[in-house]
Amino acid sequence: MSRYIALEGIDGAGKTSVLVALAERLEGEGHDVVCVREPGGTAVGESLRDLLLEGPPMSAWAEALMFAADRAQLVEEVVRPALARSAWVLSDRSVYSSLAYQGAGRGLGIGRVRQINEPGLSGTWPDMVMLLVVAPEAGLARQEKEDRIGSEGSSLLASVAEAFERLASREPDRFVVIDAEQSLGLVVDQAWAAVQL
Ligand code: TYD
Repeated sequence: MSRYIALEGIDGAGKTSVLVALAERLEGEGHDVVCVREPGGTAVGESLRDLLLEGPPMSAWAEALMFAADRAQLVEEVVRPALARSAWVLSDRSVYSSLAYQGAGRGLGIGRVRQINEPGLSGTWPDMVMLLVVAPEAGLARQEKEDRIGSEGSSLLASVAEAFERLASREPDRFVVIDAEQSLGLVVDQAWAAVQL
């Protein structure tokens, strides 16, 4: 059964709303559910989040390595212990965001970004990735608060969106692709159906 589930998509895809609704349904069935977000979710991670999203310009590799550092801390401190006690983990973003944003969007290469993330994850990889798909313009229009990366506009988001779709087609057993331009209710119903498979 898939218990470590990541919600992915470009900025403004609605991941957070879907995550909250899924958590409520799982808790309603009596499951122990831990919700996390990347970057963030630990004391170290929240400091890195400020630097990554609100901080000064940085090199693409510094950015990729900081996302990887944030994730290594989160996996060790929160995700692995939660899975060990049989809780569900719902994650707002995951290593796949780094593959799409830093690997493709920043042009560092998906393979190389995967390599720098592997040591910190040591095998703790999401069981299921729900990819919420919206057009970059729709995502930008829906975005509530811009951050350093999300504010770069539709050309970065277009390459990120394309990379997410490529990653999904390479790993069809791990990915569930959902059209997130539908109403939130329909998106949540499809996500819930996938969780119950
Ligand atoms: P998030 O807090 O999910 O914001 P949003 O609501 O806009 O989706 O993500 C913050 C930003 O960080 C977002 O622009 C995507 C970016 N990001 C990366 O570039 N690489 C990563 O590995 C992660 C986790 C996020």
